[in-house]
Order: sequence, then structure tokens, then C-alpha cells
Amino acid sequence: MILVTGGAGYIGSHTCVELLNAGYDVAVLDNLCNSSEKALERVEQITGRSVKFYQADLLDEAALNTVFDEEKIESVIHFAGLKAVGESVEKPLEYYQNNITGTINLCNAMRTHGVKNLIFSSSATVYGEQEVMPITEEMPKKAATNPYGWTKWMIEEILKGVHTADPEWNIILLRYFNPIGAHKSGLIGEDPQGIPNNLVPYVAQVAVGIRPYVQVYGDDYDTPDGTGVRDYIHVLDLARGHLKALEKLEEKPGVEVYNLGTGKGYSVFDVIHAYEKACGKELPYKVVGRRAGDLVYSYGDPSKAEREMGWKAQYSIEDMCADSWRWQSQNPNGYAE
Ligand SMILES: NC(=O)c1ccc[n+]([C@@H]2O[C@H](COP(=O)([O-])OP(=O)(O)OC[C@H]3O[C@@H](n4cnc5c(N)ncnc54)[C@H](O)[C@@H]3O)[C@@H](O)[C@H]2O)c1
Repeated sequence: MILVTGGAGYIGSHTCVELLNAGYDVAVLDNLCNSSEKALERVEQITGRSVKFYQADLLDEAALNTVFDEEKIESVIHFAGLKAVGESVEKPLEYYQNNITGTINLCNAMRTHGVKNLIFSSSATVYGEQEVMPITEEMPKKAATNPYGWTKWMIEEILKGVHTADPEWNIILLRYFNPIGAHKSGLIGEDPQGIPNNLVPYVAQVAVGIRPYVQVYGDDYDTPDGTGVRDYIHVLDLARGHLKALEKLEEKPGVEVYNLGTGKGYSVFDVIHAYEKACGKELPYKVVGRRAGDLVYSYGDPSKAEREMGWKAQYSIEDMCADSWRWQSQNPNGYAE
């Protein structure tokens, strides 16, 4: 049995589909603070298999231990966490408590139950501002620019320490670039609460008529069209990366770090135009001021994941936008009625 924390969320639900399709049994622990149980019903609908769901909080140690008492867990994929960068600046204590204490509680429960295989959702944000692109895993981590980023930064160090103290642990830190897109069925996808923080969910809401125009945070950067450049990755490729990481754990690798991205950079305008092609209409936008803390360029070198795990992203930016649009147009209000 694989335990997926945060499995009702965006990346977690897509990973559950891939796990179930590959024949794994899956238990999900999620407090639903940023997700809906409906996502798991849809996962079951897509796969024709069932998921064991525990509605529980990582901060509730008793509930956490119950899951490990009741299930025979072999490995844990740990997605659960708060992820809104702007909100983390306003609520640092809540972010440190939820993400860091939550992860420590998880590791404690794992240790108590002799479970020592873990895959962690880290982020390219731990690289901070790098001078050279593409970013490789060997580049030193630089200062994070917000509490969310620091939680990823520190959890990576905490997990390395757990392995140093007990080398029987096998831990894979996956540094995601910018996941977008949705499952091909249009049944599951990203369902942000409130105003989306990320570009593609925002563009999707403009396309479906919920918001009047896309806000472009600065078009005077030193890039070909003046807007920021990011490495977007299809959530289906990302989900498959977790299956490859599970296979890698069987080799008992100790601690390993992998970038999960495509290695290609697309600008804000590239994404808006790809989305216009997907939804068949022009999308209004307004250039507003730069946003504090935004990087100019960020794209990764994913070749280590290909070399060592046999993983490579397959989907293009056009696929990502077409699949996002299918989900958004079929579910304009996400999982809400
Ligand atoms: N989406 C991105 O752009 C991105 C990029 C890099 C890294 N990540 C990381 O990947 C992971 C998954 O991201 P996502 O986009 O699917 O986010 P998400 O918010 O959709 O999923 C996270 C899930 O964790 C649950 N959760 C949060 N705190 C919890 C707690 N204390 N106990 C139990 N459940 C809890 C939420 O209810 C939610 O279902 C997160 O750790 C995130 O930081 C995401």
C-alpha cells in the first residue's frame, strides 16, 4: 500500500490515478483544507478502482498513527502542504507549522511503524535566483524569498538529516518546476480557491469568463518578449515521475534529488497565446507592475531524472493548455456544484 498525503489535491489526485492504473493500492490522507473529496471520487471513476481515504490532518499525530496502524504502508508520497506564496508572507507561522511540523509528524509516525521510503514534493523555488540556466541539481540552493519557499528548503534539510541518522531510509526529493494541465478525461484538474496565484489557472478563469483579463506582472524584463520565462510541465508527466521515483526507491538510493521539468522555457505571452489556440478565442490581458520576488528566468535541466530514473516529460505546452481547457470548460467552477 502506498500512502499519499495530500492525495485529494491537484498533483496528488493525478498521481493517484497513475498509481492505481499501475496496480498499486493507494491510501490517501488529506484534511481537505485546499481540496474536495470529489476529486477522489473522480479518481475512482477514471480508474475503476477504489482509494482508501482518511480525512485527517498531519498535525493530528493520533490520527496519523491510526493510518499506519491500519494499513500496511510500504512507501509514502508526501504532497500535503500549504502552497500559496503570497499567503505564506502574511501567515508565516501557519506555513511553518503546517508544512514543517506536519512533515516531522509524518516522519515520526513512519519511524514508529518502520516505514522508511519517502518521496517528497519539493520545488524549484529552493534554487532561488541562479545566474546560469538551465538549473541542475548540483547548483547550490540559494536563499528563498518567502516562507513557503523556506518550508521546502528546510524540509529538504530535515529529510537529509533523517537519512544521515538512519541510513536505512530512502528519500527522493522531487523539485517540480511549474505543473499545469489536467487529466485527459477532463474529470480532474486544478481547482484553486479564490484568486489563482499561478498563471495558467488565472488564464483558464479568464478563458471561461470568470475573470475579465489576465494580469501580466511586468513586460520589461530582459527576456525576448519582456515577460518572465518558466519551465511548465504537464501534471501527467509529473505524476508519472512519482511512479519512476517509487521504482527508484527499490534500488535503495539513500537520498536523491531530481528536477522534474521539461527543460524548456516559455514566457507569459507564449502561454497566453498557446491557451488562446486551445480555447479558440482571444484572451484579454493587461500589463501591470512587476511582482516582488518574481524571477526573470527559471528552467531546469531534467537530464538526471532521465539518466537515473528513465523519466522524461512527453507533453508539449500545446497539450498542457488543451488539457487544462478541457477540464476548465467542463468544470467552470471546479469541483463545486
Ligand atoms: N502546484 C505547484 O505549482 C507546485 C510546485 C512545486 C511544488 N508543489 C508542491 O506539491 C505539493 C502538492 O501541490 P498541489 O499543487 O497539488 O497542491 P494542493 O493544495 O492541490 O494539494 C495539497 C493537498 O494537501 C492537503 N493538506 C494541506 N495541509 C494538510 C495537512 N496539514 N494535513 C493533511 N492534508 C493537508 C490539502 O488539502 C491539499 O489537498 C505541495 O507540497 C506543493 O507545495 C506544488
